[in-house]
Amino acid sequence: MCGIFAYLGPSEKAAEIVLKGLKKLEYRGYDSWGIAAEQENGEIVIEKHVGKISEVVTLGKELTEPAHLAMGHSRWATHGGVTEYNAHPHTTENQDIVVVHNGIFENYLELKGDLIKKGHQFRSETDTEIFAHLIEEEMEEGFEVAFRRACKKVHGRFGVLAMHKGEKTLIAARRGSPLIVGKAKDGALFIASDVPAFLEYTKDIMYLDDNQMVILADKTARFYDMETDQSLEKRLITIDWKEEEAQKGSYAHFMLKEIMEQKESLARAINSDTELILKAAEMIKKAYGTTLVGCGTAGKVAMVGEYLFANVAKKHVNVKFGSEFKSARHFLTDRSLMIAISQSGETADTLEAIEIAKTKGTKILSIVNVETSTMARLSDLVIPLKAGPEKAVASTKATTSQIAILTLLAYAVADRLKEGKQMLIEAEGKLNDMLNPRYEEHIESVADQIKGAKDIMIIGRDMNYPIALESAIKLQEVSYIHAEGFAGGELKHGPIALISEGTPCIIIAPNDEYKQEILSNAMELKARGALLIGVSPDNAEIFDIWIKVPSAGNASPIMDLIPIQILAYKLAVLRQNNPDMPRNLAKSVTVK
Ligand code: AGP
Repeated sequence: MCGIFAYLGPSEKAAEIVLKGLKKLEYRGYDSWGIAAEQENGEIVIEKHVGKISEVVTLGKELTEPAHLAMGHSRWATHGGVTEYNAHPHTTENQDIVVVHNGIFENYLELKGDLIKKGHQFRSETDTEIFAHLIEEEMEEGFEVAFRRACKKVHGRFGVLAMHKGEKTLIAARRGSPLIVGKAKDGALFIASDVPAFLEYTKDIMYLDDNQMVILADKTARFYDMETDQSLEKRLITIDWKEEEAQKGSYAHFMLKEIMEQKESLARAINSDTELILKAAEMIKKAYGTTLVGCGTAGKVAMVGEYLFANVAKKHVNVKFGSEFKSARHFLTDRSLMIAISQSGETADTLEAIEIAKTKGTKILSIVNVETSTMARLSDLVIPLKAGPEKAVASTKATTSQIAILTLLAYAVADRLKEGKQMLIEAEGKLNDMLNPRYEEHIESVADQIKGAKDIMIIGRDMNYPIALESAIKLQEVSYIHAEGFAGGELKHGPIALISEGTPCIIIAPNDEYKQEILSNAMELKARGALLIGVSPDNAEIFDIWIKVPSAGNASPIMDLIPIQILAYKLAVLRQNNPDMPRNLAKSVTVK
């Protein structure tokens, strides 16, 4: 979590550049923000506030004074509440050393205790503040050496960036949390948690890998191995991201834009490179055991994958959520395969699962949207989603692309790739029936009827059971209504006790072999007073409300999810929530 961005270059508007870039990283955390700049007279000035950086129009007077170096941070709180003191940057008492940080210094309490004994005083409850003091402790041989020594003292996964008064230098290190260096033609240097922060200035980037540090000074970026102190050569890579893809355009919110973009994003996923899909299918066929891994929505996609491989390829694959992966390590060997699923490619729990798997020699196939991510670079083979930037915290277009790619893989493993692709193409051709203003209006009227609900239940069977779980995540994230997904047959074993008069229950009822069974489950709910919302190709007498979805065979998980994404969005708006930045959440969960 947390967004880091810094600028060092010829412009005297360093702080404004950082403000603008940080706004593009706000999806990483939006509890509080802060910016530090070194003015021309060498003074370091800092401004920090609780609240969203996107709401900031102008910086305070001091930060608008000429400065060629600035760094900033947008926070998702881990250690310490959401207060101005806990907002980054953090400094030493004399404010000579300034630090921003993404991740967790796991041994900070121990280090803080030692520093307090040495006379250091702390202002915040964060783990970050110790890093400035650790550097200060080691300053005898200069900033570079001190920074390096501080890195060696801290444990955990982090990306950390520091500056020292008067040095016109930025030093950063990475162990687990992403940091990318950008280099513009005018000699300006940038360092950020993600590329969009500096995309309008340059597309030339260099990656900082784990256990590496970088020193930015005098138009040059010097890279070092953090352990051995040896200098490293880095290649300048030109990326082909488009700035406008990361903008909202005429849409009120990114979430709606991204839902609507599914026409294009799905087409791109379905048309994934055939050679690549066949190569990945070959890996699955050869593997002595395949485990699908993901977190949150990507974890639910992994569950859809389990059903797809069973139904289409008659093949058993295992599923583990990243955070629950550890026990599965006992079953991995150098002949196993892990399929990691992720939008960001930076989710700490999934990355940890990959790291564990790699120690066993297990091959890693990743299905990931951000091709420049850590996950992509740790993998033996990558199937890119090509969904384009997904900015809203609630994943939509990346999710359906992930399901489409797993569908292709299941068909490829069954040696029926052509058939699977054709089925997906036909489903995609029916997307216009849903992604249009009339459909949106209908769903808005449904949202209006249930916007005051305390609970929403969603049921599905087989491949649509994980879709019920994913639907619940969407509704929880942005509507803040308690929502839960269940396998249709499980309700009567307990959860049905939660149903009372008028409880909205979404019934996912595609035209599959489970249709009668799910409708029977719906009847059980109706008998207890539930308001039934059917998501189905056909209306059924028992539905109080019907949301029509195209009939799509094994592509039904994709089709059934889309109206529920729209419903979640509409509920958020009607309940005056910000669907792009839901409370307590952040887009990339880079802490365990
Ligand atoms: C999705 O709506 C959620 N924001 C969340 O569950 C997300 O899917 C999860 O954190 C995994 O993220 P990733 O796909 O970037 O790995």
